[in-house]
Amino acid sequence: MNVLLTGGTGYIGSHTAVALAESLGALIGEKTHHIVLLDNLCNSEIATVDRIKTIMGANSACALTFIQGDIRDTTLLTQVLSNQQIDAVIHFAGLKAVGESVAQPVEYYANNVQGTISLLQAMQACNVKKMVFSSSATVYGEPQQLPLTETHPTLATNPYGRSKLHIEEILHDVCLSNPEWSVVCLRYFNPVGAHKSGLIGERPSGTPNNLMPYITQVAVGQRSHLNVFGNDYPTPDGTGVRDYIHVVDLAEGHAAALNYATKHAGWQAINLGTGKGCSVLELVHTFETVNNVTVPVQIVNRRAGDIAVCYANTQKALNTLNWSATKNLTDMCQSAWQFEQSMT
Ligand code: NAD
Ligand code: UFG
Repeated sequence: MNVLLTGGTGYIGSHTAVALAESLGALIGEKTHHIVLLDNLCNSEIATVDRIKTIMGANSACALTFIQGDIRDTTLLTQVLSNQQIDAVIHFAGLKAVGESVAQPVEYYANNVQGTISLLQAMQACNVKKMVFSSSATVYGEPQQLPLTETHPTLATNPYGRSKLHIEEILHDVCLSNPEWSVVCLRYFNPVGAHKSGLIGERPSGTPNNLMPYITQVAVGQRSHLNVFGNDYPTPDGTGVRDYIHVVDLAEGHAAALNYATKHAGWQAINLGTGKGCSVLELVHTFETVNNVTVPVQIVNRRAGDIAVCYANTQKALNTLNWSATKNLTDMCQSAWQFEQSMT
């Protein structure tokens, strides 16, 4: 099988390349599978390609190729899909900072929505009709009931979230237009952690927007303390509750979704989470305990646009993909810390 991973050198794409190589099996003769990573490196680095190859090892049944390019370049995408005889696409490429999307909506819609249309045009031209797409729990907006099921109404509250929702709808229309198409939109909850090798993980440029990379940077001494955005939410300790999922579990969810997409046509939206909520302070305390480090915190005002509680109903992923998360908060905190240390 030949699979194109757009955004393949990014945080989730790199872990998925490793998980895919593992799920496709060990070498028994010639390399029988091909993973092609396409990325413009706007939020990742080329060194990740060699790190993925190191983890895959020489005995992997998969060949790995990296192509530097932009998903808005339809001509390039068409060449890649055709020359590499791609069977399916896992589409990670996108910009993902919520605050930045509010300040630069045009750039976000151009990159995420226009980029996806460009990819779909190339796929249509090359008769490739299978896609797994990186969506987000952000498409649910303020939860009306918990846990969040895939039938919960969707409502995005910022340009980033709306770009995900628009893309989901475009993909739905594509599936309605032609019953041969197969699209699985994976709605991620909060991916954290890193591969056990310590070779790949989350490396935000500049000040981290997300909680776990901020915690690791405080623990390593790069920042003095963590600002906790509000302790007056209606939650057990007053801080925000999220469904943190280990990135390796998430990556394995993509392998399961790709397998599903090769066997079933139509459009699906599926949550990838653990189904368990964890507060900011609970995550900080777990991190401190399992790694024997101190993370000073300071309570500050709520962050605009944040919701109090968000966690997944995971039944559909189990029923449809036969997938469920297996790693716990300890695994997430240990691997995130190991990766941070290996990078400094
Ligand atoms: P990431 O920034 O690490 O990876 C995205 C990759 O896409 C980067 O390597 C970047 O260089 C590349 N890219 C961006 N625009 C591109 C373009 N026009 N052409 C080619 N490459 C391009 O982010 P990630 O955390 O790995 O997220 C992957 C996907 O999952 C994104 O679409 C993101 O919106 C989505 N997602 C992420 C989270 C999260 O918390 N990490 C949560 C929900 C959804
Ligand atoms: N938080 C802090 N301090 C920080 C950063 C975060 O207290 O420095 C808190 C937030 O207020 C929230 C929790 O930690 O309660 C998690 O915040 P993140 O920014 O890590 O994650 P979000 O749930 O806000 O959003 C993330 C991604 C979105 C995605 C969403 C659902 O950033 O892109 O998960 O998948 F849409």
